[in-house]
Amino acid sequence: SMPITVKEFANELNVPLAQVITKLIGLGVMASQNEIIDEDTCILIADEFGKEVNIVQPEEEKSIEEEFGLDFEDKEFQLKPRPPVVTVMGHVDHGKTSLLDEIKKSHVRTSEAGGITQHIGAYTVNIDDKKVTFLDTPGHEAFTSMRLRGAQITDIAILVVAADDGVMPQTLEAISHAKSANVPIIVAINKIDKPSANIDRVKQELLENGLLAEDWGGDTIMVPVSAKTSEGIDELLEMILLEAEMLELKANPNRRAIGTIIEAKLDKGKGPMATVLVQKGTLRFGDNVVSGFSSGRIRAMTDDKNRTIKKAGPSMPAVILGLSDVPNAGDLIYAVEDEKVARTIADKNKESNRENRISLNNRVSLENLFDRI
Ligand code: GTP
Ligand code: MG
Repeated sequence: SMPITVKEFANELNVPLAQVITKLIGLGVMASQNEIIDEDTCILIADEFGKEVNIVQPEEEKSIEEEFGLDFEDKEFQLKPRPPVVTVMGHVDHGKTSLLDEIKKSHVRTSEAGGITQHIGAYTVNIDDKKVTFLDTPGHEAFTSMRLRGAQITDIAILVVAADDGVMPQTLEAISHAKSANVPIIVAINKIDKPSANIDRVKQELLENGLLAEDWGGDTIMVPVSAKTSEGIDELLEMILLEAEMLELKANPNRRAIGTIIEAKLDKGKGPMATVLVQKGTLRFGDNVVSGFSSGRIRAMTDDKNRTIKKAGPSMPAVILGLSDVPNAGDLIYAVEDEKVARTIADKNKESNRENRISLNNRVSLENLFDRI
């Protein structure tokens, strides 16, 4: 294996050291016995002695996921249909949250609405008896890793563009995130109730940025809506269901859960509180979990309507208590076999996080300045 010193190489070749050094000099390489020689030189020298060099590449260090077998492929027959995860993206103030509130208002059954709906930025609604999970994203941060990851955990992106404002910087950013993650985009042209609304202008601007409306001969669905009057919202939901159906989304519900932290905070009374979107498996009350360097046992679990639940399957959001620290939004969370494994992984993550930070500190660039600490 590499790297190798002249002396070690001579040993490997089973040739006297002096002969190797002589050959090296013949090649114009002045190397003492403890110097390291490169691959090409090794091959040349070995050839001189009529031998072949077998170069063994250093083994890639296993990721923690691999080491602990946290993620693995499920078999086709284990996969069951799961609800779509739909992320709402777009420029600041274009109406993302209003649109979601409107959807929630008309599609959360009154029996469900009994509890106080907490703002967790992720919730599931029933549309024609089909579940759809929505994720809200803020438009104000210039470039959040949450939005970047949001594109990866999402199946469909709803791009909200205000009809009175048109395509703006964060509209473009959302388009590029969704495109690079290969996520289908449905455009909601919002605020069409406003007198200054201009739907065609929005379509024109989107066309200039690579999205051609279906009714203009392209393949991007664009639905004019108003979060204020509710106009167009049913059509938008219909389009979401259609798109979801085509995607044939599936996951294995019968395994230890893997999810993503959507939001996390420290609650004064309850401790670290995290909203998890389950992606694979089923997360259960009492599970031992780990996310980054936070670990613990789930000692309380509620749904998006603040009701106590015992489990959450694929594509379902859940708020959990019991973690040792506040995890990072966007990080993965794993259910593991026991407390010891959870803590071991958290400790390893802490270590590698420290290493990463050291190497980051060596490269101060403009980009690093915007990194979250
Ligand atoms: P950020 O999360 O800050 O990026 O904003 P947002 O995209 O979630 O926008 P939000 O829903 O907070 O709406 C911004 C403003 O636009 C609010 O004052 C809403 O009342 C208003 N608004 C949203 N949708 C509509 C609409 O369809 N029509 C009209 N007239 N106003 C709307
Ligand atoms: Mg909002």
